[in-house]
Amino acid sequence: MAELKKVISSEEIQKRVKELAEKIDEDYKNQPIVFVGTLKGAFIFLADLVRNIKNPNVEVDFVRVKSYGMSDTSSEEVTITKDVETSLENKNVILVEDIVDTGITLKFLQDHLKLHKPKSVKICVLIDKKERKKINVKIDYVGFVIEKGFLVGYGLDFAEKYRHLPEVYEVVKK
Ligand code: PRP
Repeated sequence: MAELKKVISSEEIQKRVKELAEKIDEDYKNQPIVFVGTLKGAFIFLADLVRNIKNPNVEVDFVRVKSYGMSDTSSEEVTITKDVETSLENKNVILVEDIVDTGITLKFLQDHLKLHKPKSVKICVLIDKKERKKINVKIDYVGFVIEKGFLVGYGLDFAEKYRHLPEVYEVVKK
């Protein structure tokens, strides 16, 4: 059996997402930005983030990746299963991720997006989880730093469940 223990409330998330959007608006003024979310996990964070952005010059696109590894939490090898459909050439891109765990996906996506010849690529992550980090990628906008735990909710799943929850929970074994 497992139970869910709340680790970030909906109010805390919404407050932090608003702060991140304000910082992004401040940094980019009204320069065009393409937000690129990683499916599936980032869909809720991206949706909330862009709705708090005041900059009128915003585009949104998605990538989807597949990880091959030893277990559902491992991502030793990553491939693209859906690329962006918008041209990123000479544009400012912000890659939006729900969580960085080992860092392997983020590093792969950072390198991949550069192949699209953007003007710049910055990274915005809701949760930077520390315990299993293998690759350190510089993250420009971080929502929360969490040491450890299997997290679900607000886009994050366990066997495709719990993505719809407005809060973030740790799955605790009983
Ligand atoms: C999660 C998350 C990141 C990745 C992070 O996606 O959304 O993309 O894992 O892990 P890493 O830092 O160890 O590479 P997942 O593979 O669970 O797919 P999902 O977004 O469809 O849930």
